Amino acid sequence: MDSKEIRDKFIKYFTDSPRNHKEIDPAPLVLENDPSTLFTSAGMQPLVPYLLGEVHPKGKKLVNSQPSIRLGDIEEVGDNRHITFFEMLGNWSLGDYFKDEQLPWIYEFITNELGIEKGRLWVSVFEGTKDVPKDEESYGIWKNLGLPDDKIIFYGAKKNWWSMTGTPEEMNVGHIGGPDSEMFYDFGEELHLHENSLYKNEMCHPNCDCGRFLEIGNSVFIQYKKVGEGKLEELPQKNVDFGGGLERITAVLNGDPDMFRTDLFSHNIKILEEKYGRKYGDSEMFDRSFRIVADHLRASSALISGGVYPGNKAHGYILRRLIRRAVLHAKILSPKGEYLGLPIPDLSENKIPVPVKSVSEIENVINEESGKFAKAIDRGMKKLETIIDKGTVLTGNIAFDLYQTEGFPLELTLEAAERKGVKFSLEDKKQFQEEFEKHKNLSRTTSAGVFKGGLADDSPEVIKFHTATHLLLASLRKVLGDHVIQKGQNITKERSRFDFPNNEKLTDEQVKEVEETVNKVIAENVPVKFEVLPKDEALKTGAIHGFNEKYADTVKVYYVGENLDDAISREFCGGPHVGSTGEIGRVKINKQEKIGSGLVRVYMTLEK
Ligand code: GLY
Repeated sequence: MDSKEIRDKFIKYFTDSPRNHKEIDPAPLVLENDPSTLFTSAGMQPLVPYLLGEVHPKGKKLVNSQPSIRLGDIEEVGDNRHITFFEMLGNWSLGDYFKDEQLPWIYEFITNELGIEKGRLWVSVFEGTKDVPKDEESYGIWKNLGLPDDKIIFYGAKKNWWSMTGTPEEMNVGHIGGPDSEMFYDFGEELHLHENSLYKNEMCHPNCDCGRFLEIGNSVFIQYKKVGEGKLEELPQKNVDFGGGLERITAVLNGDPDMFRTDLFSHNIKILEEKYGRKYGDSEMFDRSFRIVADHLRASSALISGGVYPGNKAHGYILRRLIRRAVLHAKILSPKGEYLGLPIPDLSENKIPVPVKSVSEIENVINEESGKFAKAIDRGMKKLETIIDKGTVLTGNIAFDLYQTEGFPLELTLEAAERKGVKFSLEDKKQFQEEFEKHKNLSRTTSAGVFKGGLADDSPEVIKFHTATHLLLASLRKVLGDHVIQKGQNITKERSRFDFPNNEKLTDEQVKEVEETVNKVIAENVPVKFEVLPKDEALKTGAIHGFNEKYADTVKVYYVGENLDDAISREFCGGPHVGSTGEIGRVKINKQEKIGSGLVRVYMTLEK
């Protein structure tokens, strides 16, 4: 069964009697009239008003297939199951049916309509928190449907709670969500211990990352709204939001866990094989590059069709990042590491489920952006070769530094080392990997505001907190020392949460001193300005930076002060910020806690 048949069957199953859903058009990838959102990343986004109770013109039971972009896992793309651009099959109850209908229907669709083997299905249900009960109802329904006890697994909020912004604790105030029940397909490797999995020394289970299980869909019971820190409120209606990954379901029906071997990607993989003269499936390292190029070109084409152009901000920055990664991996694939161009993927309907405006426009945008970056990479390669030629010992740290400053991947470093006959040992690789993991975690948290679900909230409260948080970091460094860096940050309209390394919690005096330092700058009404600088120059200003700017060749440095040179705070940041600090009002640090080894978390609010 190919992807088109699966999509058609899904829509038909839910529009047919007795389910009687109405099909709705997918929302565009870039939502108009919604400045708080970068991309459509879930089918629920355009439906939020109706999940909250507004009457939908097509009724209370809807079905669709929604093209979506998710960037949270961009670094994971390269295995057989992570992609950035995907299609989500969705059925919706807007306060109509609930668990009793949803789970039997979706089970019937998966097993009868698609014919997926019942014995290979596992499901998960929500184990509950102090505020939300354990989902015994879903458990009972799955049992009645015939699932054995040991294939119904309870997980906590990290796994079985769904909202655009994470668990009940992480969720932005105003967001809606609820417990979910997920379905997994078991590709059936033997149960075993996974040395390298997230769940070290545990038996493999549905949420293990080893590749044995593939999540194919989740039924979210959207029932709650976050109304304040630690406060959930029940919605006036109980909703169902089912999301099924079309690419994943197609892989299951293709009998191969590799999504890149489904009809959605196979044609594009073939074009890449022809272009670069390699065979997909021959080597793990090259397969990774095949997948990254195939995924990123598909996503880039969809974005360009949606009116996005490469740039240094928001949508454009994401597109640029995707094209640049595609270039890097295209170079890895080509026989001599040269840049041979990026072949445009199959843009026919069904393979890329968005209206394609003009193939030649897509081609032009990708060619121009990729050509410029290919030249920049050549410069990176020269830099590396100079390092090697000078006789400097090539270490994991040097390789990582090149990665961070030039976007130069380890694969190209390895290749250069081999060509030049210099040593790059397993230890060096480990060193690189360690730095890379650190960076990945940091980049996940620092970019969470924008990438998690594609959200960027530019409300006045959030903007004030953005600037106040820059001042908080500067003040913490002043009071505690330069070891303070941002390890995590989360801003809502109510508060800013900030994580940084420090062995102990702050003393009362230190808290007071930090608060006073921030409030003094606010009282002085200091201007907040920015300069756009080439990255090298920006680094020289000593501005504090996260890693998420690694691919931008020009960056924005926001500073608090009349001049960049003697500013109170300097940070790489996309903004936005207040015009001057007086707009913030007074701040207060009202809570702090130790989170894990050597990290302290503080919460800051604005005094009304
Ligand atoms: N159905 C919720 C989601 O994963 O998008």
